[in-house]
Amino acid sequence: MKPERIGILTGGGDCPGLNAVIRAVVKSASRLGWETLGFHGGFEGLLEPVSYRTLDHREMGALLTAGGTVLGTSNRGRFSAKTGHGQKAEIPRAILDEAKRNFDALGLRGLICVGGDGSLTIAQALYEHGIPVVGVPKTIDNDLEATTVTFGFDSAVACATDALDRLHTTAASHNRVMVLEVMGRYAGWIASHAGIAGGGDIILIPEIPFNYDSVCKKIAEREAMGRLFTLIVVAEGARSQGGDFVSKESVAKDHEMRLGGIGAVVAEEVGKRTGKESRVVVLGHLQRGGGPTTFDRLLCTRFGAKAVQLIQEEKFGTMVALRPPDTVAVPITEAIGRLRTVPPDGDIVRTARALGISFGAD
Ligand code: F6P
Repeated sequence: MKPERIGILTGGGDCPGLNAVIRAVVKSASRLGWETLGFHGGFEGLLEPVSYRTLDHREMGALLTAGGTVLGTSNRGRFSAKTGHGQKAEIPRAILDEAKRNFDALGLRGLICVGGDGSLTIAQALYEHGIPVVGVPKTIDNDLEATTVTFGFDSAVACATDALDRLHTTAASHNRVMVLEVMGRYAGWIASHAGIAGGGDIILIPEIPFNYDSVCKKIAEREAMGRLFTLIVVAEGARSQGGDFVSKESVAKDHEMRLGGIGAVVAEEVGKRTGKESRVVVLGHLQRGGGPTTFDRLLCTRFGAKAVQLIQEEKFGTMVALRPPDTVAVPITEAIGRLRTVPPDGDIVRTARALGISFGAD
């Protein structure tokens, strides 16, 4: 008798922990006697020429700690459900039909889609088109609704915090202003968490537009106390009051805006206004590369095992979510379509302010 089969794919940008989810899915599916097919290149693997391989549970060992995704991923391509901040493009019906046809031909019991807002939007469209889908929330940006945290976030914060630790010593040695630009798209989760954990002095996030008078006031206050260096953490989506997002490229019609460059703008302006030597470091894809932290390894393993359980229980159209102390199932529709951002009056911002960290808006 042929074993039952499920499928898994990883969509959107890569992220530490994708392989740990794949491992957990394959291992827990194999304990139910199920085979797992891994689709290559994200959702594209479902389309002609269909591209997948059977994942052997005995070969999953090294995946717990490995960065990237062994299945490959894509955030462009024929599905492209998301074109920008809050905008959506319809997936052509012919593409959904083709994916459903290929899925059915493989006789799969369910499909696990690992992704962020864009990929889960595609997953929901597939579900509405008759494919039994379960989602797993992935993004270093931590900007998904309906889960306390996404996997990959902790690893990105660890990377940014390590960068701040290193910048601290060189900033102090040279009495400089060091600006660290971190990812996060339109949410300041990475900047605020790493900024606090890494001892930043000023944190600029999209949720709290800043002004240079306030940023320079904080630097002057520090100087007055004999602290002759300053660490500024800037989220790539931060913007000055009345200013616009900074992006290095013009936006193609079907692409999301690629944010980046605000760190250099801040370093230059602060340097001009204060007369202090200022330098910028753009952390970029270092935050996405490499293996997951211990926290993410555990979270990915819990998410992967839970996703298999949800297929077994036929709870399709759901996404696994962390609601401490449990992992639970939530409708995918609760997670997508709007971003979860840092509450400007929430605990993280209050904690930072209690320590004297400035958000450049006072
Ligand atoms: O969503 C994850 C993320 O790393 C964002 O933080 C960042 O803005 C974007 O992806 C970068 O995308 P790309 O890898 O396409 O440059």
